[in-house]
Amino acid sequence: MKRTHTCGELRKKNKDEFVVLQGWVHSRRDHGGVIFIDLRDRYGVTQIVFTPDKVELFKEAEHLRREDVVEVRGQVSLRKAGMTNSNLPTGEVEVFISELKILNKSDVAPIEVDDRIVATDEMRLKYRYLDLRRPVMQRRLLIRHDAMQASREYLSSQGFLEIETPLFVKPTPEGARDYIVPSRVHPGKFYSLPQSPQLYKQLLMVSGCDRYFQLARCLRDEDLRADRQPEFTQIDVEMSFPELEDIYAFGEGVIKHVFKKAIDADIKTPFPRIPHKEAMAKYGCDKPDLRFELFLHDVTDIAKESDFSVFKNAVASGMIVKCICSQADFSRKDIDELTSFVTQLGAKGMAWMRVTQKGLESSVVKYFNEDLQKKLLTKTGATPGSMIFFIADTQKKTNEILARLRLELGKRLNLIKDNEFRFCWITEFPLFEWNEEEEKWDPAHHPFCMPIEEHIKFLETNPGKVYCTQYDLAVNGVEILSGSIRIHRPDIQERVMKVIGISKQEIEKKFGFLLEAFKYGAPPHGGFAFGFDRIVALMCGISDIREVIAFPKNKSGECPMDGSPSEVPAGALKELHIKTDIVSKK
Ligand code: AMO
Ligand code: AMP
Repeated sequence: MKRTHTCGELRKKNKDEFVVLQGWVHSRRDHGGVIFIDLRDRYGVTQIVFTPDKVELFKEAEHLRREDVVEVRGQVSLRKAGMTNSNLPTGEVEVFISELKILNKSDVAPIEVDDRIVATDEMRLKYRYLDLRRPVMQRRLLIRHDAMQASREYLSSQGFLEIETPLFVKPTPEGARDYIVPSRVHPGKFYSLPQSPQLYKQLLMVSGCDRYFQLARCLRDEDLRADRQPEFTQIDVEMSFPELEDIYAFGEGVIKHVFKKAIDADIKTPFPRIPHKEAMAKYGCDKPDLRFELFLHDVTDIAKESDFSVFKNAVASGMIVKCICSQADFSRKDIDELTSFVTQLGAKGMAWMRVTQKGLESSVVKYFNEDLQKKLLTKTGATPGSMIFFIADTQKKTNEILARLRLELGKRLNLIKDNEFRFCWITEFPLFEWNEEEEKWDPAHHPFCMPIEEHIKFLETNPGKVYCTQYDLAVNGVEILSGSIRIHRPDIQERVMKVIGISKQEIEKKFGFLLEAFKYGAPPHGGFAFGFDRIVALMCGISDIREVIAFPKNKSGECPMDGSPSEVPAGALKELHIKTDIVSKK
């Protein structure tokens, strides 16, 4: 016997056909001496029926339990009027069974294979193979598959070659820690696992490959969050002789094709472009959610003229004052909740003003004379019935806090539409960011981004003034792509490395092979990488990327199913010349 149909396939037109189905017992109902079983596979569920006239068969069916694996032969019949199930594509038919073969019995499953009952995160990951049997998880894997095939299809059609790059590499810096793998043959030496294929895709451009892509696994040892896994997948792309316009067009092309193929969504291109500076000013972050229009306003100049000591002192010590206008009035209780929301994020407080027909009202309004109040209203565009919330802090903190408050207000005021995708390119990022702790410049992205031509002259004198060709793509508040035109000239690359405090010897040791390659006719090149897991999650309408990865790690980077990471036998460490000095917790 071999299956003639899947469990999602039978329809009215199959009436009277003899069919063979194989699948899992999803549920069993005994009704008036008749046994109904929902038989499930990846494709769907079909109702099969055992009647008591077939005595032996009926007895066997009575012993079937959930998740048993069976093969059945029977005849398709139309369900009686009133017994059809319009929620199921197979809901108009049922199969009367004449033969049953039990292929495997199942123990009682430790988690339910049922979308209506969701186990704890840890149990789901421990029994991931059962969790993945749930229809919703099967659907997500299917969307992931379709998205993967669609990206390959599009990029191949545009002349990009899929080329694999190594997993055992020299460190590729992307701002996280490396996972390292000891070499047995070379005691004391280690491979790094790639944080991305960055250096290798650049070398492929030196190799004349012209257009490269790869669905690349990336490995990063960093703090995990809902949108960050230690292993994740990028759609990694690089091209030679690019104009910025080419890059934007290919990025948009991937999105358009993938969204159409995987979820049948029509995405409008081109996407708007917002310079990084403007995004920070208006939204307080570089991945704005454009689904709603609430903007931040810098009111430092107005605040410093006021008599409000909190603001005056803040500005005097180099801080800024920004505000957000809520387009709605809030109760005292709401204001208290919002204040505690921002203080949890590190705000020292949150002054507010209510905008009424009579003007501004609150305990701090008295510190602002009429002229300043007018200026506030003009600057924010606030109209009666709205509220203004103020944060005074360092530029970085003020923006971080207000960006989060903006999202919170968007949620509370129901301004965020589900099922809408609002993409935007963020362009012209700063090349460096100041590391307060170590008092040094770090690359804001990675050290291979080409500075903007006119800014190259500031590299040594004023690194904070140097912006670069980096671009990100954000959608609904999520960063899904990052890329840049690269530095292909060794002299500029060396100057950038110097700014971030890497000595000539260190450069030689870490990236010597790349700089060496650049000496032999490196073409101008650039590219980007999509965070593939994040795109799939967005298409599935969720934010936790673990939901779209077959076997993800938990929040501590462990796999509860296979128990990794785990100890290795002492002999294996000895062979690698590795000794651990861990004091075991007992
Ligand atoms: P970047 O480090 O910004 O750039 O990564 C590109 C995109 O990958 C996604 N991403 C992640 N997704 C899940 N888990 C993670 N831990 C994780 N880290 C990053 C994000 C991000 O936008 N080599 C450069 C690209 C380039 O310049 O071409 C790079 O890796 O969506
Ligand atoms: P205080 O004088 O500390 O009682 O604060 C008066 C008002 O200013 C209160 O509403 C505080 O929440 C608010 N406030 C205090 N510090 C800040 C700050 N750094 N930014 C914005 N508002 C603040």
